[in-house]
Parts: sequence; structure tokens; C-alpha cells
Amino acid sequence: MAKLIDGKAISAALRSEIAAEVTELKKKGITPGLAVILVGEDPASQTYVRNKQKACEEVGFHGEQINLPATTTQEELLAVVRELNARTDIHGILCQLPLPCGLDDSLVIAAIDPKKDVDAFHAENVGHIMIGDQQFLPCTPAGVMELIHRSEIAVEGKHCVVIGRSNIVGKPMAMLLLQENGTVTICHSRTRDLAQVCRQADILVAAVGRAKFVTADMVKPGATVIDVGINRDENGKLCGDVDFAAVEPIAGAITPVPGGVGPMTIALLMKNTLTAAKQQNGLV
Ligand code: GUN
Repeated sequence: MAKLIDGKAISAALRSEIAAEVTELKKKGITPGLAVILVGEDPASQTYVRNKQKACEEVGFHGEQINLPATTTQEELLAVVRELNARTDIHGILCQLPLPCGLDDSLVIAAIDPKKDVDAFHAENVGHIMIGDQQFLPCTPAGVMELIHRSEIAVEGKHCVVIGRSNIVGKPMAMLLLQENGTVTICHSRTRDLAQVCRQADILVAAVGRAKFVTADMVKPGATVIDVGINRDENGKLCGDVDFAAVEPIAGAITPVPGGVGPMTIALLMKNTLTAAKQQNGLV
């Protein structure tokens, strides 16, 4: 039986550490501020944004949600970003992705002041991650690292296999594991003998976006299995990229879905916003 990595509990611990720091910052007259831009009415995005707003309230931040209609033009959206860049009470800016058709993600990401880019999606912040002197870490991969650290799983010298090469998860995930001296392999849809490569992993991170993609034959006995996926199975039930029932008896440690990586992403967003607020007030 695998050790269950409890993302809900670890996220709650991290958020309470952040709340304690916010209490101290407020004594200095600083309230961290996060602005979240939501364009259009995608229900999943609405839920994510609502959860971010709730998390802001819980840790004592000023959270501001900016709802724009799906008909917003690129220039109007960029103007909103520029206004937020100029505000001193807003330390972090996040534009919920994906954007409705006709709007270009990359132009919006490029317009966000890198110092306020709490997603760490701006090319300048991505560059810092490559060099290893980053201020912000992208929330989901950083959340995975926090789970690994707080579960006392060593990365150094381990074979880490990341399935998925997205800019948001797979690529930065690989860099963070590499920074901790893991031996990293990135797999993707064109990888040959995927199961055989995954079976070599001491730490396997699944970020494919396909329900129950990782099956028991892809997992080495005793491996740590981290599931980044949020999917629906054939019955409409929430499930990850890993076939949990089949893999759990083989793995050494595993994250559940829900309650694994998911709760960590928002906690790391709060952490990045706190860091941004401290930096913009000359405290780090
Ligand atoms: N959409 C899904 N995940 C994310 C994320 O981490 N950041 C942003 N901005 N949009 C997302």
C-alpha cells in the first residue's frame, strides 16, 4: 500500500503559514493584493477564479476579480493589464487561461509586469527558471515540489520522469526536478516505448490531461507517483491522469485526485503573491 500524499492537509499548512506572514505584513501597513482577470463565461474558469478569490480572503489578501465580457478586444484587455501594472495596491496579476477565441494568450502574458507575474508565465520569469535564480515558480510545478519536500521524498540522484511538455506544467516541472539534482526525462505524445521509460522512474509525474492514462504496467514498485491531471472518467467522476486503483498498490507514495496536487496550485499562487508584495515593498 502506498503512502498517500495529502495535498489538502499540506496546502492548509502552507496557507496558514502565509496567513501568519500576512498578519505581520499588515502591521507594517502592507496588504498583499492579487488581481485576477476573467474574460468570458467558461464555467471551469469561473470556478477556478472563485476558488482563488476565496483563498485570498482566507489568507488576508486583497483579492480583486475583474470580469470582462467574451467580446473584449485584445487592446481593451491589454489596457486593463497596463492599469493593474501601474497600481501600487496590486502586487500580483493573473489572467485566467484559456482566453476566448480571438484573444492571444501570449500578448497578455507579455504585457504583465514580470514583477507582478505570479503565474511565472512571462518569458523573463521562464528565463529565470532556466537559469535557476527565479523569484516566482509556476504554481503547479512548485506545488508538486512542496508535496515532495513535505513528504520527505529525496529528489537527488533519482530518475524523475515527467509525462507532458506544456509550458505551464511539464517543462518547468522538469527544470525544478533538475535543480534538485534529479535525473530527468520528459516524455510526450511522440515518445517511443512510453511504458518502458515510465517504469524506470523513481518519481513519476503525470501531466498529460488524459483520464487514467498511467496504468500499473507503467509504474516501478515503490515509485513516487504524482498526478497533476484533473479529468472526468467515463461516469463523469473526477479523476486524474493515473489509474489510482490499479497503481496505488504498487507505488511507494501517490497523490490522490481530488486532494493531491490541485489544492497546492492555489496555495503556491498565494505564496507568489506574498513574495511579490514583499519585493515591491523592498522587504526581500
Ligand atoms: N488556467 C488553468 N491553469 C491556470 C493557471 O495556473 N494560471 C492561469 N493564469 N490560467 C490557468
